Amino acid sequence: MINNYHIPVLLKETIESLQIRPDGIYVDCTFGGGGHSSVILQQLNEKGRLIAFDQDEHAKENLREDNRVTFIPQNFRHVQRFLRLHKITGVDGILADLGVSSHQFDEAERGFSTRFDAALDMRMDQRQKLTAADILKTFSEQQLHKMLEQYGEVTNAKTLARLIVQQRQTVALKTINEFKQAMQSAVKGNPQKYFAQVFQALRIEVNDELGALKELLQQTPTLLKPGGRVAIITFHSLEDRIVKNFFRSGAISETEVDEVYGTKPESAFKVITKKPVTPGEKELKENPRSRSAKLRVAEKI
Ligand SMILES: C[S@@+](CC[C@H](N)C(=O)[O-])C[C@H]1O[C@@H](n2cnc3c(N)ncnc32)[C@H](O)[C@@H]1O
Repeated sequence: MINNYHIPVLLKETIESLQIRPDGIYVDCTFGGGGHSSVILQQLNEKGRLIAFDQDEHAKENLREDNRVTFIPQNFRHVQRFLRLHKITGVDGILADLGVSSHQFDEAERGFSTRFDAALDMRMDQRQKLTAADILKTFSEQQLHKMLEQYGEVTNAKTLARLIVQQRQTVALKTINEFKQAMQSAVKGNPQKYFAQVFQALRIEVNDELGALKELLQQTPTLLKPGGRVAIITFHSLEDRIVKNFFRSGAISETEVDEVYGTKPESAFKVITKKPVTPGEKELKENPRSRSAKLRVAEKI
């Protein structure tokens, strides 16, 4: 167990919303420090099971001896495949608490935080090849522009993208300090805030966070038993929109139409949270990192 790994966000609200059946099978797609998982386990009896995914192998160090738990150190985009491997076809609840853990963020050498100097890495799964430095080196100006604008909401995304492409011809953009120094002239407003937005964009891209979320959502209707629930905590408006639309319409893209019949897919869900659940004042005070969290819950019909 690693100390101060992560403070679970919207803990009570999330667990209550899952309406845990003591003998049920639950999937925690983002085990992290195991905060949500440990409360799920408290509510399960000896017949209940918890399958915990985390693509960061370090999360495994937070596991406690418990024969009801199976840890799968993989990306949750492969959830169905790995559950099948463990002979599980239907589950009672699925939880995903997206993004990075405080542990990942606070470990300087992982390269997620603007506060330290380290290699521009940002991989949650360290078996993966692509790093943030690779993106800065290989993406076209247009790709960088789109990434910075969409994932980081960087106000001068176009200018920054151009500067990256210019600077990378002469400067190695391999470390956080090299990058920050080379980008000085593009900084708008508070540098800390500016680089936090840029880093968020890079992190989302490195880990293909939106792609993984979409693939996970598409598997949930087949995985959940009728009456089973899925709870997703997001930290970015793009993620929240994807979850909201999927629960409501059963489609990832708003214009998804069946090519043969010209029909739109129907949602397999009843939406439980008409509006997203957000942290209350007490939680925001105790854990400022919870500030952009939004919980949405749906029930399989
Ligand atoms: C916000 S933390 C989860 C914290 C956890 N709920 C707790 O209470 O400690 C997110 C975790 O999910 C993992 N993660 C993020 N995206 C993932 C993905 N696509 N597949 C598997 N794990 C992922 C990260 O490595 C990180 O450990």
